Formats: sequence, structure tokens, C-alpha cells
Amino acid sequence: MHTIMELQVNGDRRSVGVPSHYTLLETIRYGLGMTGSKQGCDKGDCGACTVLRDGEAVLSCIMPVQEAIGHEITTVEGLGEGSNLHPLQDAFDLTGGAQCGFCTPGILCSAYSLLTSNPEPSRKQIARALSGNLCRCTGYTKIFEAVEVAAEAMRTGRSSAEVLRDQRSTEGTKP
Ligand code: FES
Ligand code: FES
Repeated sequence: MHTIMELQVNGDRRSVGVPSHYTLLETIRYGLGMTGSKQGCDKGDCGACTVLRDGEAVLSCIMPVQEAIGHEITTVEGLGEGSNLHPLQDAFDLTGGAQCGFCTPGILCSAYSLLTSNPEPSRKQIARALSGNLCRCTGYTKIFEAVEVAAEAMRTGRSSAEVLRDQRSTEGTKP
């Protein structure tokens, strides 16, 4: 038996019929057909399902869908504007912060939440903010670099590509 849920997702009001025991992740993926948020461990351990609820990173696989009602939900599909990628998405692409990409949507949402509250985080603060997001591919160094590049891009209004190019040319001129 399905229950109609009224949700606000990525700026749109969405009406979706799902079983009332569904989690937010199940509702997003199987009710709304938005598959950017990943179903990894499905028990709160890996962070692949991370989305934003009123700007705060939450684990959608352990959140009953009822807890999303009345809140603004943002998934990885809603981070950019139209066809323009968010600076974080660009930075992950450019630095190699995303490899197989399974962890990436959750990490992007956690990083987005961090940069909203702390535009110039230290490497330690980035590591702490992403500590609930597991990645089996990258070793994290490229992920941390990507967040730093995006943070600078967002602070200065430049693109992630410009920030990265300047960083690399500065590194190239160091004795
Ligand atoms: S799928 Fe939600 S924490 Fe792993
Ligand atoms: S890029 Fe593959 S798990 Fe992170």
C-alpha cells in the first residue's frame, strides 16, 4: 500500500506515492527515479546516500521519508545550476577526486554542506567533514584537493579550472 508524500526536492514540489516504511533514499531513488544518490551499505556506515536536508548533510538510507516532509531536500542532481556544474563537481572532475564515482554524490553533498558554513576550511576540517564518507578508490588526497580548489573558486568567483591552473603554474615556478 502506497502513501502520497509531498516533498520539496531540488527546489521543486514533488508528490510521490511510496510505501510508508520507505526511507528518504528509497523514495528518492525508487519513487522519484533520481539515482544520483547511491545505495551503498544501506545502514548508515558508508555515506554514499548523503543528501542535504535544509542544507545539512544527512544519511538518507537511515532517514524515514516522513522526516523529510516540510524540509528542503537537495540531492547531487540539484547542486549545479541548470546545465552548469557546481564548482565542487568541476573540481572533482579536474583533480581526479572522482574515480569509479560511487562515493562521489555523497561526498559532494557533505563538502557542499561544509563550504556553506565554512568557506575556507583547513585540510583537517575537510577530513573531519568527510569522515563519514568512504571511498575505496582515491586514497582521499585528491578528494581533499578538490574541495580546496572548489572552496577557493567559490570565494573568489573564479572557475575551478582557473584556480587549478593558477595553483599548478605557481607550483611549477617554485625553486
Ligand atoms: S548507503 Fe547510507 S550510509 Fe551507506
Ligand atoms: S571514487 Fe570509487 S569509491 Fe570513491
